[in-house]
Amino acid sequence: MQIYLTENYDHMSRRAADILAAQVFLKPECVLGLATGSTPVGLYQELIAKYQRGELSFARVHTVNLDEYKGLAPTHDQSYRWFMRHNLFDHIDVLPENTNVPDGLAADPKAECVRYDALRDTVGRTDIQLLGLGRNGHIGFNEPGPSFVKETHVVDLTQSTIEANARFFASIDEVPRQAITMGIGYIMDARRILVVASGEDKAEAVYNTVCGPITPEVPASILQLHRSVTLVADRAALGKV
Ligand code: GLP
Repeated sequence: MQIYLTENYDHMSRRAADILAAQVFLKPECVLGLATGSTPVGLYQELIAKYQRGELSFARVHTVNLDEYKGLAPTHDQSYRWFMRHNLFDHIDVLPENTNVPDGLAADPKAECVRYDALRDTVGRTDIQLLGLGRNGHIGFNEPGPSFVKETHVVDLTQSTIEANARFFASIDEVPRQAITMGIGYIMDARRILVVASGEDKAEAVYNTVCGPITPEVPASILQLHRSVTLVADRAALGKV
């Protein structure tokens, strides 16, 4: 694992954006695996700025997002589809039909999971997968549990994740209890993985990801088995490593 120590959130965002931008520059028709959460917002702003300066085009890029809340419409302001439009897609030249986020309203969620996994065949293998870390070490919405789940699946969110994400909703009761998430198989199939982490409340998750045993109790620990992982984290997030 390659680890970049950065000074703070802005520095982390610039560094991580440079890596994604280099990927798009070198392979304009690449597949980007994208993530939500507050951590990547700054790096998406950096990518938008690069696009606006004419340094980068996403016109041939395909994107595949990690997850979506079950039960939220794409127009709900806390849905991950809305997040991606608001924070990235609406501000760059990516074609809407080339962006993929699981359908949280799918009438048949199991069929939606199968459809999502099949994107690997139609869209192609992910060139670089961006990941944030949950405080409990989750990636996408792969929560700690007794075993890793390879396929895209419907997951019950843990209390810790519901509490962590309550800050985005009017009240904790409005946080969905379930999500559809890409499984560990699709994530680990990416050619390259870029993990971003910022702040002291991620320090334990970062430590367990990098230095701990590989265990489904810390889903991100499986990244130790991937041959090309880059972690860009700030000093606070690396505080325990
Ligand atoms: C959610 C997302 C994850 C993300 C995590 C951390 O649970 N499903 O993909 O990494 O939040 O979010 P934040 O970056 O806001 O700490």
